[in-house]
Amino acid sequence: MIILKTPHEIEQMKKAGAVVAECHKAIAPYVRPGVSTLELNNIVEKHMTKLGARPYTKGYNGYAFATCTSVNDVIAHGFPSAKPLKEGDIVKIDIVAELDGWLGDSAWCYAVGRISEEARSLMQVAKECLDAGIRQAVPGNRLGDVTHAIQSHAEGHGYSLVRDLLAHGIGRSLHEEPNYMHVGQPGKGIRLKEGMVFTIEPMLNAGSHHMYIEADGWTARTADGSLSAQYEHTVAITADGPVVLTEQ
Ligand code: MF3
Ligand code: CO
Repeated sequence: MIILKTPHEIEQMKKAGAVVAECHKAIAPYVRPGVSTLELNNIVEKHMTKLGARPYTKGYNGYAFATCTSVNDVIAHGFPSAKPLKEGDIVKIDIVAELDGWLGDSAWCYAVGRISEEARSLMQVAKECLDAGIRQAVPGNRLGDVTHAIQSHAEGHGYSLVRDLLAHGIGRSLHEEPNYMHVGQPGKGIRLKEGMVFTIEPMLNAGSHHMYIEADGWTARTADGSLSAQYEHTVAITADGPVVLTEQ
């Protein structure tokens, strides 16, 4: 069942989303060669707490950290670590804040120093996929219109979309219906209605879409070792069109 949100509830969620956006803005200047993902994680945790919110991932299903930090071929759910980032890395930082019982969820991909043209292009197309998906997130459209816009843009550039990790409805819980892959056909899938709130979070691989999860039970990596990039926003479907609740 999809839990629809009232305009007032969407306003509440926008406050949680604003906390996530603030955390991203706070770490962006620190992402450079030599910093560790654990240091970035700690900056997020401090900043979020200062803003009166709680890092929802900490303790969620046994996850231990305030962020997920996923470097290069790690697609998602990487653990922050003391290992310094190096010039040319790309790192996805995924942040979920809880404020007054409502959640906001956004992941962003950051370049560490100077990166290769291949990495830059993958990041750019991943961001364009997110934006193309958001543009289709309007009442009356179907979910397939969103996912098709994403899939056709990614594959048109020779990239693949991860299928084993899903986007999700979000509200008072992190994972609500709909749960969906970022691939699909126009005109197919559920019809989008005012009051729906879900994440759009395409994960693009430079190589194949296949992935595996490491023995730690979390870290998702590309099977072929290729680079992966992701951008994620929490998006509300409203009469006025899509509203990005985690806009930076
Ligand atoms: N954005 C991630 C997701 O939607 C956040 C969850 S990570 C977890 O699944 F570690 F908390 F599970
Ligand atoms: Co998410």
